[in-house]
Amino acid sequence: MHHVGQADLAAAVSNAGGLGIITALSQGTPKGLAAEITRARRLTDRPFGVNLTFLPTLGAPDYPGFVQAIIAGGVRIVETAGRNPAAHMPALLAAGVKVIHKCTSIRHAKKAQDIGCVAVSMDGFECAGHPGEDDVPNFILLPLAARALRVPFVASGGMADGRSLVAALALGAEGISMGTRFLMTQQSPAHANVKAAILAASERDTALIMRPLRNTERVLKNASVARILETEQRLGAALGFDDIAAEVAGVYPRVMIEGDMTAGAWSCGMVAGLIDDVPDCATLINQIMADAEAIITKRLAQIVAPQ
Ligand SMILES: Cc1cc2nc3c(=O)[nH]c(=O)nc-3n(C[C@H](O)[C@H](O)[C@H](O)COP(=O)(O)O)c2cc1C
Repeated sequence: MHHVGQADLAAAVSNAGGLGIITALSQGTPKGLAAEITRARRLTDRPFGVNLTFLPTLGAPDYPGFVQAIIAGGVRIVETAGRNPAAHMPALLAAGVKVIHKCTSIRHAKKAQDIGCVAVSMDGFECAGHPGEDDVPNFILLPLAARALRVPFVASGGMADGRSLVAALALGAEGISMGTRFLMTQQSPAHANVKAAILAASERDTALIMRPLRNTERVLKNASVARILETEQRLGAALGFDDIAAEVAGVYPRVMIEGDMTAGAWSCGMVAGLIDDVPDCATLINQIMADAEAIITKRLAQIVAPQ
């Protein structure tokens, strides 16, 4: 999570029994990532991962440098996202790094499996950020993944609580991955204004921008998003990224760090409608596990118990 997935949050999630993930690109340079990995090591002795997002941009970040920083930092698990990570698989695999690719479609998940990913994260249409262009929600995507894949997968998008976890397991996933829900924790560095906006939001308060550019992003509705959607509609097929760049590019530090809620569009999941608190990471994970266990051993067990 850009400018949210920092060492503090990643370490807190790992310390609580999850797999915390540092966002590589938010660290600016491979050197910055190396420093953040070192910082996370001081905060946890548990495993954590690094997310490497391959952007559809012309001036690409120094991806080989980030890969080297991950390997040199002894990180064993990488979550790739965006474009196909194939070009970086040989270096990662040779170093013994396990790669989990985040996918929004079954065809991409099968491709990830074929190029050596040990697992995939299936990101349903509900998700914050980039849901792809197929608009398939998790109730369809997850069972399709269970049918199609040999490798294990986690469910991502819309996951918030014990109910989500049990549902994901029932649909064939091995676990859940949460974005917006972890943004809404005590250890998340997101500005208090961001947390207040998500607390106030319902499940109807996200919108999809950049669809005409085939780079769809689910964001929280605000005045910038209304302007972007109006520009997209007005320009139609003539729309270019430059027409909306002012309210899309370089927005995250201003929103997440400075709390400038007028800066532009930022990712948020529909799951905002299920979130009404800002707990400590350990409290959140323990509650999810306790609720999931109660659902399985009480409610679901009763359904199949002999009368
Ligand atoms: C503020 C924010 C920033 C995000 N930035 C990234 C990113 O840089 N790279 C990425 O792969 N996913 C990013 N995501 C998406 C999450 O990693 C995850 O796929 C998504 O949040 C799952 O949906 P959920 O929010 O419903 O749990 C971001 C999500 C949020 C909320």
